Amino acid sequence: MIIDASAPESIEQAAQSLLKGALIGLPTETVYGLASDAMNDEATLKIFSLKGRPVDHPLIAHVVDKGALQHFASDVPLFARYLIEAFWPGPLTLILKKIPGVAQACTAGAGTIALRCPLHPVAQLLLKRCSELGVWGLAAPSANRFGRVSPTTARHVLDEFGGSLLILDGGACEVGIESTIVDCTRGAPVVLRPGILTLEQISIAAKQPAFTRADWSGKPATTQAGTPKASGTLDSHYAPNALLRLLSNEEIINALASFKDKDVKLAIWAKAHPTLEGLAQNFLFELMPNTPEECARALFAQLRAFDTLGITEIWVEKPPQSSEWAGITDRLQRAAHIAG
Ligand code: TXA
Ligand code: MG
Repeated sequence: MIIDASAPESIEQAAQSLLKGALIGLPTETVYGLASDAMNDEATLKIFSLKGRPVDHPLIAHVVDKGALQHFASDVPLFARYLIEAFWPGPLTLILKKIPGVAQACTAGAGTIALRCPLHPVAQLLLKRCSELGVWGLAAPSANRFGRVSPTTARHVLDEFGGSLLILDGGACEVGIESTIVDCTRGAPVVLRPGILTLEQISIAAKQPAFTRADWSGKPATTQAGTPKASGTLDSHYAPNALLRLLSNEEIINALASFKDKDVKLAIWAKAHPTLEGLAQNFLFELMPNTPEECARALFAQLRAFDTLGITEIWVEKPPQSSEWAGITDRLQRAAHIAG
């Protein structure tokens, strides 16, 4: 059931449901989450079964402000505090050392915890009310079935889980791709999942160089042993039903010249290009926005819209290689990856 989050009683209704151990659909500025009380293991385990997510893939705990760190994290390094000052509330998740024993289901039993303070006003209101009721954090992965495209509207969440779930409608998500995840347990900031914040922004705010996952794993002194699985980092994830191919503008035009397969319902998502628009008879052409912010906001809704139209192949123009596009490129590469 979708309820309007701006109605006066809706925040209270959602908070009471969470307190009783139910799950709710929660708007955040990145994507919609499927939320439970992070300290309630029985409730949190329902998230794994509803999503079809393996129980060894830990979830993010969402908190109202940095004051809530004391309930979940210990030994917070100085650079993590700088990141919190710079980006909370906002689309940044930090992996921190966990207080032993807390939020066991949420953290998949790991010694670390992912914490994020969302900016969305509805998430903020709900988290505030929850903390008044003694619920210090909400475990919330993206509200989609495991491996599928993340939801950016309340309607998408309804399409994933049906009408029995209480879903707070807070409008379409402003950011549109999931938060940047920074591991703060390795002595330096390591970006495990790129998002809308760039590596440069993270380095500047942390007052020390941040590393990509690839750069860090190339360092000889580190070991990957014991690192929990991060589902957003699996090769195949965020996948639409249609086959997705990432191509340069030139490759799209060349491939179209020899494209004859009548069984394929083709859609192209690319920047404005006179040749492409001129050719758009045998396929659906949708314009890809010019800035990374607009593109991120549109991405998942566009992939879902193509699926709804019964498109069987999507050709997407490769984004530029600069770091502002890293989060979008990452999601597109995983959506394009054919499992196995
Ligand atoms: O923007 C977002 O982050 C959204 C909204 C709802 O806040 N949430 C989200 O959650 O994307 P989810 O579960 O789809 O992705 C969380 C990622 C997963 O890749 C998970 O494995 C990783 O965070 N993660 C959680 N705890 C971790 C930990 N202790 N160490 C490493 N990775 C962790
Ligand atoms: Mg997800």
